[in-house]
This record gives sequence, C-alpha cells and structure tokens, in this order.
Amino acid sequence: MTMTEQSPSAVDSGTSATEAFRVARRESTTTDISPQRVGDVVGSVLAGIHDAIRSREVTYDEFQAAKAWLIEVGEGGEWPLFLDVFVEHTVEEVAARAQRGTKGSILGPYYLPGQVRLPSTSKLPMRPDEKGTPLVFAGRVRDVDGNPVVGAELDIWHADDDGYYSGFAPHLPDGILRGVVEADTDGRFEIGTVQPAPYRIPTDGPTGALIEAAGWHPWRPAHLHLVVRAPGFRSITTQLYFSGGDWLDSDVAQATKPELVLAPQSQGDGTLRSEYDFVLEPAG
Ligand code: DHB
Ligand code: FE
Repeated sequence: MTMTEQSPSAVDSGTSATEAFRVARRESTTTDISPQRVGDVVGSVLAGIHDAIRSREVTYDEFQAAKAWLIEVGEGGEWPLFLDVFVEHTVEEVAARAQRGTKGSILGPYYLPGQVRLPSTSKLPMRPDEKGTPLVFAGRVRDVDGNPVVGAELDIWHADDDGYYSGFAPHLPDGILRGVVEADTDGRFEIGTVQPAPYRIPTDGPTGALIEAAGWHPWRPAHLHLVVRAPGFRSITTQLYFSGGDWLDSDVAQATKPELVLAPQSQGDGTLRSEYDFVLEPAG
C-alpha cells in the first residue's frame, strides 16, 4: 500500500463529514428556535468573544489571521471536525444533566446511519486481512430496574488499527467496522471486532494547523462509538475507551468519562474480551 493510500487527507475526512452532516440534518425534524433564544445564546457567544479580545488585547493582525483561518475551515469542510472536537463535549455535558442510565458521550463527525443489521452474536464487517488485535465486546442491555430490555439494538462504529473510519478515508471499503447489532430477547449481545487505534485529528488541514499553532496535541484515545436504542426507551449516544490506553487522560475532544472505560481481558490466545452492560431509561 502506498503512502497516499494510507494517509487520507484532511480534505477527504472534512468533505465527507460535512456531506454526512448535511444528509443527517435533512432527515432530522428540527423545531424553530425563537428570536428570543437566538438573541440570548448568540449574544452570549459574542460577548465571550468580545471579552477575550479585551482581556487578551487581540490585535488587528490576529483578527485578520482568525478570519483567514475561519474561511479555511469552511472551505476545507472542517466545521464538523472542529465543532465536534472542541465544542460538542459541553453540549453533551448539559444534555447529561437530565439523563439517567449509562453515561453518554459525544457523537463525533463519523456516524453513518443505515449500516448492516446483524444478529446478537456477530462479527462486524471487516477486510479478510483486517489488522489489529481481535476483540470480543459482550454484555447486556437492561432498564433502570435491572430487567433485560427487549428489542434493543447497538449501532456501533469505530476506527481501524490505523485510526481511520470507513466512509471518511478513501482507502477503506465502505461499511467496515460498522454495524447495527440486534440484542437477543434477554438484551444480550456479543460483537467480534478488532481493537481500534487512537484517533488523530488530520494534521494537514486548518484544525490541525490551529492545534499545532497553539502547541496542543491532536489525539483522541482509542474508542468504540455506540448508539444504543430500544422501543420505549431514550437512546444513548456514547463511547467506550480502553484502560491504560494512550491519551485517556488528555483527550483533545474532552469526551472521556471514568464510567466509560473498558478493561479488556487477554484471552491467552492473542485476543481480548470485554464485558459492558448498558442501562436505558424510559423515553421522556
Ligand atoms: C472527531 C473524531 C472522532 O473520531 C470523534 O470520536 C470525535 C471527534 C473529530 O475529528 O472531530
Ligand atoms: Fe471517534
């Protein structure tokens, strides 16, 4: 495999993430936001920017550099990447105030709906020679009283052993390491996959340039993404991390929570197994 095939550019992931967002947005039912609310929220955002300019004594040079950067983020399609890394965690924190059950985490820019449906014990689609440590992820979906949830499904997606997501990196076949697993009537599931690698924000685009200019690092710890849903229950969007993994304590997206860290057990044959139970609350 050549270098170009192994290193999809920021423009590949940015453009695909923007397109995926537009499609999801078209299919979502959004309610109108009142002028009062828009004025309140946007007014606060602008006041925060004005405060930063005053307290940091931002110069004309810096203001123009910021404008040039904002234009590049738009042209490179990187708004979904930038906002999901640097802003979504706070939106999730506010949403979590009214949530019981399994803790949530950010959705991120790489969710794709409509993936293959799989029975409760399944392997995710992968290449015949898929790299990475085999991992079995198993558990149960229960309600807040501990009863098994009937009709639960786990919409799961994650990066490959190089940290890339199918659908957002042209060298990967569509649909790999993604699937919708239907738990059995006891809420049980057992999903075969490979351990994902940590994810690095593309360094060749404007978000990467900003991170470098600010002296930050571009890494997220390795993670599984999940949306767990069932009829009559509130869906949970979350991520699961791996204990001892790199960047667990310094996630650039600030999306880790101690309750969401798996401790996979080595099975003695080079494979890993991890158990996790999800708890769903009734739909509100
Ligand atoms: C981003 C990527 C991820 O895989 C994720 O989980 C969250 C954010 C991003 O590049 O914005
Ligand atoms: Fe991710």
